Amino acid sequence: MLKDKVVVVTGAGSGIGRAAAMMFAGDGAKVALIDRNEDAARAVSEEIGQAGGESLPLGCDVSKEAEVEKTIDAVIQEWGRIDGAFNNAGIELHSKSVPDLTADEWRKVIDVNLTGIFLCMKFEIAAMRGTGGGAIVNTASAGAIATQPNMAEYASSKAGILGLTRAGAAEFGETKVRVNAVLPGLILTPMTEDRLFSDPNFAAAVDPLLRRHSIGRFGKPADVAEAVRWLLSDHAGFINGVSLPVDGGFTAG
Ligand code: NAI
Repeated sequence: MLKDKVVVVTGAGSGIGRAAAMMFAGDGAKVALIDRNEDAARAVSEEIGQAGGESLPLGCDVSKEAEVEKTIDAVIQEWGRIDGAFNNAGIELHSKSVPDLTADEWRKVIDVNLTGIFLCMKFEIAAMRGTGGGAIVNTASAGAIATQPNMAEYASSKAGILGLTRAGAAEFGETKVRVNAVLPGLILTPMTEDRLFSDPNFAAAVDPLLRRHSIGRFGKPADVAEAVRWLLSDHAGFINGVSLPVDGGFTAG
């Protein structure tokens, strides 16, 4: 689906981003692997190389404007254009209620999850407009529309991404840049497995959470990657501004 396209993936060193990068490279895309953990991005690049794919690992903190600008420039230097971008890097804190949350903790999550996507879009769109267009997919979360207690900073950052996605779709369609979002349910990745298996407060929530995924299981990184691959491809050429749940029914109930 993505053969010969140049695709940027943020948070490519782990979980959903890693699975997406490997899938896109398997399609024959050239994939820029962006992660603040440069070693993890390099390890994914090696795996892609061993499977015969092409990739470029780049260390970058997506919440830092100068780093994002330099990183997108490096992709353009290497391959001359960007056809697709999966803006996926994100973090979560271990649940606190609003009165206990510090302003610094609030800002940390907003900076990475929301400002990070804004900064990536800023430089990606500038590049895409110069080369005839492209497609962007942002990772929000089912938590943006069906939130749980003690997730104010995370839910707010992810709800902000839905606005940013629609704003991008409304503004850049004419210049042939499409912007969509995916809203994953609970996907088994290092981010969530850490909590599921080591946080006793979270353990009590596992069964009710699983029941809300009416399909009867938690998600796999590849479930999200499949949806993103399609949204980035020319098959989704008339899809612009959608927020697509990939959540086994979580937000339907
Ligand atoms: P993960 O923790 O396995 O991977 C996240 C990657 O992003 C890591 O490699 C990390 O180094 C990188 N990263 C974090 N902050 C960064 C920054 N400032 N700059 C550059 N890279 C940074 O997490 P997972 O589960 O793969 O999550 C990916 C995205 O999916 C996140 O945005 C997360 O909020 C979202 N999501 C995940 C869900 C899940 O159940 N796993 C559910 C809904 C949304």
